[in-house]
Amino acid sequence: MDGKVAVISGAARGQGRAHAIKLAAEGADIVAFDICDEFGYTRAPAATFEELTTTGDEVRALGRRCITERCDARDLAALTGLAETVAAEFGRVDALVVNHGIWTVDRNSWDLPEASWQESIDVLLTGAWKVAKAFVPYMIRSGNGGSIVFTSSVNAVVPQPSAVAYCAAKGGLQMLMKVLAHELGPYDIRVNTVNPGRVDTAILEGGNIEASMEYHPYVFGEGPRTLLGGDPRRSPEVIADAVAWMVSDEAKYVTGALIPVDSGRMIW
Ligand SMILES: NC(=O)c1ccc[n+]([C@@H]2O[C@H](COP(=O)([O-])OP(=O)(O)OC[C@H]3O[C@@H](n4cnc5c(N)ncnc54)[C@H](O)[C@@H]3O)[C@@H](O)[C@H]2O)c1
Repeated sequence: MDGKVAVISGAARGQGRAHAIKLAAEGADIVAFDICDEFGYTRAPAATFEELTTTGDEVRALGRRCITERCDARDLAALTGLAETVAAEFGRVDALVVNHGIWTVDRNSWDLPEASWQESIDVLLTGAWKVAKAFVPYMIRSGNGGSIVFTSSVNAVVPQPSAVAYCAAKGGLQMLMKVLAHELGPYDIRVNTVNPGRVDTAILEGGNIEASMEYHPYVFGEGPRTLLGGDPRRSPEVIADAVAWMVSDEAKYVTGALIPVDSGRMIW
């Protein structure tokens, strides 16, 4: 990744921070952005600006440049402004990792408040499209090809009762990825999804797991249901390893693909 630039959404903590550090270690300069704010219908604690600053510090400690910015993936004007800043300061975008996300758990699909459905779809699906809409023109203009990775989920394929908006949005990301892969092939820009199983990050905190157990114990109460042993919560770094390969030249003919990093959960 020497001389390349990677843009990462949701980079204050968790997988986004792991992507920033891994890609910086591989030589990339980093653009790390995050909303660093509360949501209306989530249980997990909000990411903080201090956490985003720490991501930037850790990238710079590896000798790479880093732009950190508080930016909401739902705000197209802010994203476009950030893309202009990146173009002015770094002059290119090679890798776009659309990683930001939220996860809400409710009793069922019909008791889910309308505004909660809308919030999840706005963040997870429309927000992902907006990030692509803001940065793809700069990737094309750079003329160097490139790679986009959308962070999807096992839940794009395996349903989770209690999380209809999350599952629908992650399922929608799969088709967003495929359409963009078609459209961007002529520009040598590859588009894929990484589909994590359970990852040990703050998105699981605040009572989400407990609520899932309470509402649908047959889904969460029957063990990890993975093919590889140990705690099914893998570290964010194992997802970052996969993403680093996906955006590298070693994956130069991989496009339009769903890449599970789920210990086999999807075929359990
Ligand atoms: N942790 C898991 O078990 C798991 C499993 C499968 C998929 N995922 C997906 O992985 C991705 C990363 O999540 P994580 O596990 O690192 O959780 P996390 O909560 O630690 O990180 C998500 C980050 O995204 C940011 N974010 C959310 N909405 C945003 C917005 N509108 N604009 C900008 N930033 C926003 C949050 O502030 C947070 O810092 C998400 O897309 C999530 O759905 C997570």
